[in-house]
Amino acid sequence: MRGMLSPSLMCADALNLQSELEALDNLGVDYIHLDFMDNKFVPNITLDANLIKSVKGVLKNMKRDIHIMAYEPVQYFDRMDIGAGDIVAVHYEACPDLADVIAEIRKRNASPFIAISPDTKPEVLLDYLDMIDGVLVMTVYPGFAGRPIVEGSLEKLAAVRRLIDENAPGLLLEVDGHVSWDLCRQMRECGADMFVAGSSSLYQKGLELEESVARMNKLVE
Ligand code: DX5
Ligand code: ZN
Repeated sequence: MRGMLSPSLMCADALNLQSELEALDNLGVDYIHLDFMDNKFVPNITLDANLIKSVKGVLKNMKRDIHIMAYEPVQYFDRMDIGAGDIVAVHYEACPDLADVIAEIRKRNASPFIAISPDTKPEVLLDYLDMIDGVLVMTVYPGFAGRPIVEGSLEKLAAVRRLIDENAPGLLLEVDGHVSWDLCRQMRECGADMFVAGSSSLYQKGLELEESVARMNKLVE
């Protein structure tokens, strides 16, 4: 399977989100990465639930890749209009009732992913692999764009790939955080399938979007 892009909307031009979405949609990009933060699990607030809902009405081709960095994420699902075709990644560290949260995502015919932060060991996923469609590995500490990659992240990405292949072949592996021009190829070689393209690649200042999308597609194919 070819590598898929999921550009991070929180890194795009906040004053021109609709045209940013339409441009990506017209370039055949697979997913749009929508970060939601509650200012508790992480000390920041980015895209709000209503905006994440309104994105649905703009998309013709892309699917929503919703990354919820929040405690009790189920409370936001209806506000976001979670439904078929959506990926919904919730954090292992934020959900003591993780199996129930996953069931709520399934109830809405969406695709549950578990996100793990840099300090969380891949083994925690073992109990949930048969319930989910993918894993989102954070290679930076969640909450902000532009953060440096955490030491050992590539090795961890490869370890999660091995864990998936040994226990639940077919699950998708998404990498999120500092997916830069020089690292994305290595991330692909570690086994990532989906790439959250943010401030260290697609949204680097002064780059032409069409050219950057083509370049990134080539690097992760
Ligand atoms: C950070 C978000 C990421 C962020 C990535 O908590 O989850 O999606 O947008 O931004 P960069 O690519 O700049 O690390
Ligand atoms: Zn994210």
